[in-house]
Amino acid sequence: MNNSIILGIESSCDDTSAAVIRGNKILSNIAANQEIHNDYGGVVPELASRAHQQNIIPVVEKSVSQANIQQKDISAVGFTRGPGLLGSLLVGTSFAKSLAMSLGVPLIEVNHLQAHILAHFIEDANIMPPKFPFLCLTVSGGHTMIVLVKDYFDMEIIGRTTDDAAGEAFDKIGKIFGLDYPAGPIIDKLAKNGNENSFQFNKPRLENYDYSFSGIKTSVLYFIQKEIKKNPDFIRENIDDLCASVQRSIVEILMDKLEKASKDLNINEVAIAGGVSANSALRAAMQSNAEKLGWKIYIPKFEYTTDNAAMIAMVAQLKFQRGEFADLSVSATARYDIEESFKKP
Ligand code: KG4
Ligand code: ZN
Repeated sequence: MNNSIILGIESSCDDTSAAVIRGNKILSNIAANQEIHNDYGGVVPELASRAHQQNIIPVVEKSVSQANIQQKDISAVGFTRGPGLLGSLLVGTSFAKSLAMSLGVPLIEVNHLQAHILAHFIEDANIMPPKFPFLCLTVSGGHTMIVLVKDYFDMEIIGRTTDDAAGEAFDKIGKIFGLDYPAGPIIDKLAKNGNENSFQFNKPRLENYDYSFSGIKTSVLYFIQKEIKKNPDFIRENIDDLCASVQRSIVEILMDKLEKASKDLNINEVAIAGGVSANSALRAAMQSNAEKLGWKIYIPKFEYTTDNAAMIAMVAQLKFQRGEFADLSVSATARYDIEESFKKP
């Protein structure tokens, strides 16, 4: 039984997070969210790095104390190497390096996207992990892709967005509606009171398993501009129906390709991961396919959907067991494909 204790650090975007894992069990998962970006309608990279700088020590200290361990119990330090905002990643990377060096333990680099997917292997009494091979729809603010997961360290991206990510579509359309950033969770909430069939928006027609979300964004923008000319209060009067209709369209686009992939590859183990996997309509669509198509579905616990260090600690634990350590000269990288992270240096 593996009982190694690993500290994970995540700082790829606007959440500073630290988590402690023992074996595959999370002992603590602390995050400091940066509310400062809400006023700007999106993440401001300069402000994000500065806030990480302020948050990282208190967040790590809290994760260690809440896990009820001492620093000397830590066997390795894992950190997000990429993808993400470079300035943000550099804060976590530098901090992880210094800590690993001062504790005299190995340093482990983690690919953020692989971590979203492998969050499904965090031990939980009530949830079984997926069986290989499975499909994972990985949907966040920066990425949207269907990944064929053959093993922990053998994954193939079979479809990806050709323009915006699904979370980005939620956030940009929310901005058109005048909603705060990030708009995804707000649209989800308002949609609960709306009629999802009120409005129809353009859907992309792309080959294979690729996605596109810029078309729906433009379609919403033109529609709103046209309606506002007739009625300046159009958004306010219809916000719930607008949110429900947009959410239905995005979820349909996501599910169409996922269903096609599952059918073509004959894989019924289907997971979702990433920030948008928190969306209640997407979760409901997965549930419905479990009943309709016999899918075995895997939906992450809410706290492991948006960016968190628990998932980083999980991958670091798997790499620790394999003895895959990073050199202290390792550097953060803004672009970092999942497939690239499996290449041996
Ligand atoms: O994975 P994540 O925390 O960060 C990235 O790696 O990008 O994902 C953040 C994204 C944002 O675009 C946010 O609007 C979206 O996830 N999101 C949601 C929901 N919760 C978060 N989108 C739709 N419905 C939600 N409930
Ligand atoms: Zn993420």
